[in-house]
Amino acid sequence: TIKGFIFDLDGVITDTAEYHYHAWKNLGKKMGIEIDREFNEKLKGISRMDSLERILAYGGKADRYTDSEKELLAADKNGEYVKLIEDITPADLLPGIPQLLLDLKASGIKLALASASKNGPVILDRLGITADFDEIVDPSLLTKGKPDPEIFVKGAQQLGLEASECIGVEDAEAGIAAINGAHMFSVGVGDPESMKEADYRVANTSELSLQKILEAAGE
Ligand code: BG6
Ligand code: MG
Repeated sequence: TIKGFIFDLDGVITDTAEYHYHAWKNLGKKMGIEIDREFNEKLKGISRMDSLERILAYGGKADRYTDSEKELLAADKNGEYVKLIEDITPADLLPGIPQLLLDLKASGIKLALASASKNGPVILDRLGITADFDEIVDPSLLTKGKPDPEIFVKGAQQLGLEASECIGVEDAEAGIAAINGAHMFSVGVGDPESMKEADYRVANTSELSLQKILEAAGE
């Protein structure tokens, strides 16, 4: 039986995936690298420094910056991102998420957050849903980021559950790969192409229904 849900944050619970995109796009401009939505799919779920490395490799500028310059570039992006998330309120929960959280609570299903973002806890606070989460995986303690399964494996461990008792919810290709690698049932939010490896897919969060997800997982 399913006893836990492990959620990604950005692009699943709230639309901060858009803010990450804008902040990376602006940083890209400063470095002469054009970031479009198609390439951005490859950045979703990827940690701050790994994202910068991917962008530099994509722009053919991998060897152009020293490590300390890269730290400054990543800090520049985060500075813009932190401003974009300043005014987040509970009204910024994506459609369908408040109901899903209520249904999960009513069913006694435990929740963990598996976000690569170091800004995750402050965003949960601003959304007013910190208390809904039993566990938060600390991304700074990971040895490998998504698509490695580690963050979802840790989420299940922190909940005291087996992988087979958990369902993971993601909007990123790398995130679905991480859930699948952790041998959990994967729920993908997004278009068929980027969510092609998901066990169950919805086009957007308003279609997320606990009953339908549990049925799809064979409950
Ligand atoms: C993930 C996002 O949740 O967190 C990525 O999908 C982001 O886009 C990553 O790069 C790291 O976030 P932060 O807030 O630590 O820079
Ligand atoms: Mg995401």
